[in-house]
Amino acid sequence: MTPTTETTPSIAVALLERIRTRHARVGVIGLGYVGLPLAVEFARAGFDVTGFDVDERKTSQINGGASYIPDVADADLAERVRAGRLRATTDMSALGDMDAIDICVPTPLRKTKDPDLSYVVLAVEAVAKTLKRGQLVILESTTYPGTTDEVVQPMLEEKGLKADVDFFLAFSPERVDPGNQRFTTKNIPKIVGGIGPASTEAASELYRASVDTVVPVSSTRVAEMVKLLENTFRAVNIGLVNEIALMCHRMDIDVWEVIDAAKTKPFGFMPFYPGPGLGGHCIPIDPYYLSWKARQTGFECRFIELAGHINSSMPHYVVDRVADALNTVRKPINGSRIHMVGVAYKRDVNDMRESPALDILELLAKRGASIGYSDPFVPELRSDGRLLKSVDLADAIASQPDCAVICTDHSGFDYGALVKSGTIIVDTRNALKGHRSPSIFRL
Ligand SMILES: NC(=O)c1ccc[n+]([C@@H]2O[C@H](COP(=O)([O-])OP(=O)(O)OC[C@H]3O[C@@H](n4cnc5c(N)ncnc54)[C@H](O)[C@@H]3O)[C@@H](O)[C@H]2O)c1
Repeated sequence: MTPTTETTPSIAVALLERIRTRHARVGVIGLGYVGLPLAVEFARAGFDVTGFDVDERKTSQINGGASYIPDVADADLAERVRAGRLRATTDMSALGDMDAIDICVPTPLRKTKDPDLSYVVLAVEAVAKTLKRGQLVILESTTYPGTTDEVVQPMLEEKGLKADVDFFLAFSPERVDPGNQRFTTKNIPKIVGGIGPASTEAASELYRASVDTVVPVSSTRVAEMVKLLENTFRAVNIGLVNEIALMCHRMDIDVWEVIDAAKTKPFGFMPFYPGPGLGGHCIPIDPYYLSWKARQTGFECRFIELAGHINSSMPHYVVDRVADALNTVRKPINGSRIHMVGVAYKRDVNDMRESPALDILELLAKRGASIGYSDPFVPELRSDGRLLKSVDLADAIASQPDCAVICTDHSGFDYGALVKSGTIIVDTRNALKGHRSPSIFRL
């Protein structure tokens, strides 16, 4: 495609007008935890939305009005689909019909902990194939600073169109927190950084239509770095509080009580909580995107490495605590029946990605334990090649396991019944706050 002589302002004005009047057709690539809520929000704002995904099961489920993401209610999705505002497809050629395209595909790590941009590259290749003048392309996937201008921009400009002149390109990090009822896609402020001013303006206008607050920044790199600062901040603070928990255990101090008291300080302190290890698609991964990029400039991110070291040691610590707890009743891990209470990476979600429960299960099984689990959000899981099925917690309690490990503090569990059973419990989340019993072992 060759660039025409039409000036940018007229293309930009036309796009802004289509966005303001809701005539813009919006495409969302990658319909997962991030993309599906976003697509629904755009549809609710009055846009005509098409979701694109390589997974045919997801696209047909959406077209049938059924959600597979807990934060998106079936009724909400079905209403948009019925109204003809939202549809999903695996046919990437329809990307050419979109005015604005949001890319929300995964950005995992390779085994070496280097960024794996292959999903982003495939999605951008699909966009590049049908890129047309006046289109707005926004990358939302979390990634290292420089991805948009060093990787995405050259791919989109290959056929001659220029970013911020013939088409618009921006980065806008997704900050959604799955399971959080208070802060959702709609009311979490949206950071937007364009390749140039026209791109920032176009992307900001699109989000202004569908989210409450838009925060424009000066470049794509600033926007990329904002997200990595936020998640590195979390990873490092969780690392710190995990280390404090290990320290408190040695000193026989209840770390949970310490945090509860410390957080009464109205300024200068923010509570973070220890736990069985990091999980999810963000906090265990994103800081490594930053340290990888920093290494390219000869910079060593010491905080990230140290926090990573402490956080990844937590599943081992939990297993040590299980051994200590069983020891009090003269039992070894080997041959004991150990029941995991909650396996998802955090409360009230079904997301198992990077869940520390998987490491703990494997470590316990390696030491000869016989393992079961209860998680209403995760009906089955694979551990070390074996398929495990969730059992109802009440049935698990009735079968009298040697030890229960609370790995995820889902709100629906009957913790009172668990405590009452007298089973040895290792509580990694302080789910049993307020319960006192010699059979409870807190992190
Ligand atoms: N899950 C979160 O809490 C969260 C929060 C903020 C940011 N993020 C970031 O958002 C991005 C997406 O994360 P997610 O949790 O939604 O991932 P996800 O795995 O839930 O969803 C990604 C979707 O992209 C689809 N996909 C993969 N390759 C594709 C391609 N080439 N074309 C079309 N579809 C494709 C997959 O089938 C899947 O449905 C990641 O960069 C992540 O780091 C995630």
